Amino acid sequence: MAGLPLLRDPGPGARRALMAPTGMRLRALERDDLAFVHGLSNDSGIMSYWFEEPYEALVELQGIYDRHIHDNRERRFVIDLDGERAGLVELVEIDYIHRNAEFQIIVHPDFQGRGLAAAATSAALDHAFGVLNLHKVYLVVDVENHRAVRAYERTGFVVEGTLREEYFASGRYRDAHRMAILQRDHLGRDPEGLDGGA
Ligand SMILES: CC(C)(COP(=O)(O)OP(=O)(O)OC[C@H]1O[C@@H](n2cnc3c(N)ncnc32)[C@H](O)[C@@H]1OP(=O)(O)O)[C@@H](O)C(=O)NCCC(=O)NCCS
Repeated sequence: MAGLPLLRDPGPGARRALMAPTGMRLRALERDDLAFVHGLSNDSGIMSYWFEEPYEALVELQGIYDRHIHDNRERRFVIDLDGERAGLVELVEIDYIHRNAEFQIIVHPDFQGRGLAAAATSAALDHAFGVLNLHKVYLVVDVENHRAVRAYERTGFVVEGTLREEYFASGRYRDAHRMAILQRDHLGRDPEGLDGGA
């Protein structure tokens, strides 16, 4: 995947990188990005929202990276802002029969609050729907993760259901929304929708 133009024109009607803050683009995760990922994946404040333990050695990450280089069920991107690593977005569990995938995002704390989550999510949806021709992208989010829910609503995700006490994080069980967006909803959206209300 490395070296491919990840944000090819997804076709008429799709929202593109032009919606992003100036200088933002998604690019394929490279091996030399793993120290950055390592920092994020050991941050308990971040990983509690991913419902994962903040414990991962760099060598473990490198091993995972090497094993998954040819794994067609995932696409991992760095959010690049003017050459700086600002976060990660991922399409994982890509299913080529049902044509769906799970979406995940982290914006580095130094870059939060600038609209990057919504812009990077939109760019990842351009790739999912306009390049991979997926039918549906879904995610699971802590109901109390208001910033994430807001960013997802702005990019067209809707709540499909609420999972009661689905995950254990920060000392207690958490309710989580499953949210999703369909290809036709993303490709048919007015680009201005990103600036409008949920
Ligand atoms: C969630 C996360 C991705 C948001 O990143 P971000 O770049 O700061 O988000 P954005 O700036 O694009 O937008 C956040 C939105 O939430 C709003 N917001 C901020 N704090 C809020 C709050 N307490 N309640 C409701 N909305 C809030 C912002 O105003 C903004 O909405 P707007 O664009 O309509 O003004 C980031 O905080 C993060 O990486 N968190 C840790 C990992 C995580 O939670 N990932 C998602 C797992 S499902």
